[in-house]
Amino acid sequence: MPVMQDRQDLTTHLIHHPYTPPPGFAAPQPGVFKASTVIFPNVAALRSREWKDKSGYTYGLHGTPTTFTLEERLCTLEGGLHCLLVPSGLAAISTVGLALLQPGDEVLIPDNAYGPNKEFARGELARFGVRYRLYDPLDAADLAAQITPATRLVWLEAPGSVSMEFPDLPALVRICRAQGVCCALDNTWGAGLAFAPFDLLRDGGSLGACRTLGGDSENAPQRGQFLPDSPPHSGAMGQEDGEKWAAAAHSQPTIPKSDRLLGADISIHALTKYPSGGGDVLMGSIVTRDAALHQRLQRTHMHLGLGVGANDAEAVLRALPSLALRYRAHDVAARTLARWLAQQSQVVQVLHPALPGAPGHAHWRALCAGASGVVQDATKEVATSADPGLAAGLFSIIFDARYRAEQVDAFCDALRLFKIGYSWGGPISLVVPYELAAMRSRAAPHLQPGHLVRFSIGLEAVADLQRDLQQALAQALPPL
Ligand SMILES: Cc1ncc(COP(=O)(O)O)c(C=O)c1O
Repeated sequence: MPVMQDRQDLTTHLIHHPYTPPPGFAAPQPGVFKASTVIFPNVAALRSREWKDKSGYTYGLHGTPTTFTLEERLCTLEGGLHCLLVPSGLAAISTVGLALLQPGDEVLIPDNAYGPNKEFARGELARFGVRYRLYDPLDAADLAAQITPATRLVWLEAPGSVSMEFPDLPALVRICRAQGVCCALDNTWGAGLAFAPFDLLRDGGSLGACRTLGGDSENAPQRGQFLPDSPPHSGAMGQEDGEKWAAAAHSQPTIPKSDRLLGADISIHALTKYPSGGGDVLMGSIVTRDAALHQRLQRTHMHLGLGVGANDAEAVLRALPSLALRYRAHDVAARTLARWLAQQSQVVQVLHPALPGAPGHAHWRALCAGASGVVQDATKEVATSADPGLAAGLFSIIFDARYRAEQVDAFCDALRLFKIGYSWGGPISLVVPYELAAMRSRAAPHLQPGHLVRFSIGLEAVADLQRDLQQALAQALPPL
């Protein structure tokens, strides 16, 4: 579990996060505030209030006490300074593209990226004269070779959410830094827990500004250091309270330059998955540490009219305190089942970054596990340290190519507890067969030929899930 620099574990801090309730109502749970219109005390206040910062409220779309509180907690989770909420994870991806790219620019996307990211580039960005190219996520040299003077944005994803290759994130970020290209990480899998998106080097590193914009990243906080004091996002603020908080909000902590960290410029997160945790909310976030970058994103966010509902924001706020616990439970169950599946004769490959032999496992281990958290083989874990690292509850397997595709479909249909459906991070285990060839543009020799099936492991008892897999295998895929 990540431990914050200032003593408290992130888990504890997300539960004891600063919050000032309305006067006389000392409940720690944040209120749910709904509004389109916000009333100003007079015309002077209407004219002087600024929608771009959090010194006050101007209109529901620009923030409420509920959304401001959620934004702060997501900054705490990911170690950022600024956060925008959007209606889905995909909206976070498209907002970043629309904000940072213009005709003539290029965006580089890993070949194993979340499919709709590539689709957005192909279908929408192309219409505005933005070119996209795909790079091999396991080959940092390929990324370096593909960056041109026109490259303005590089997407990172760790791991790719279907074939699960875990890239060498620090190496990729260093390349972007060296070239002055902005890099945006899809951090949905890591969820702010498996690794720190803005602190990819444990020994620190040097930051430069991306050439898309100048940057003030050196003023970045450590994780959990978002605001100095409890921001009174209770919604019960008087004008005086609002002014006091405005002063506090402007006095964000300044980190000495020696504490500069190497990380992504932007972390987007499909809150739809682990942060909401219920499979019943769609939401996304865009977190940065850079004020200029945030302002650029914020402008596009405003022009697109993006906002989230108060009840949805509340659902995520309610789920955040149990995020670390749930994430660990998903992880433990997924690793147990992945190791069991690796022993089944029908399975030729298990794609789980925490299992040795999986593509990018060493990169996962370097970033997400304790330095000596070594695992010896795919069937049994031999940890040499107490830190087994963190991984999400998501993995894929490849069934032997000699099975017919219909047999693999029949396996999915035969599952009873696993439901057939997209998404992940909720309590119900899910399964989806994917046609890998249709998803990749470049050769992927590290993937065995065969039929890929992805599992999102929920929160059911592992023994029940294993029995379910066993009966479906026996029904649909007899040993060859
Ligand atoms: C890696 C990844 N990023 C982004 C998204 C998009 O999230 P949403 O479903 O909220 O649009 C998904 C959805 O599956 C995803 O898997």
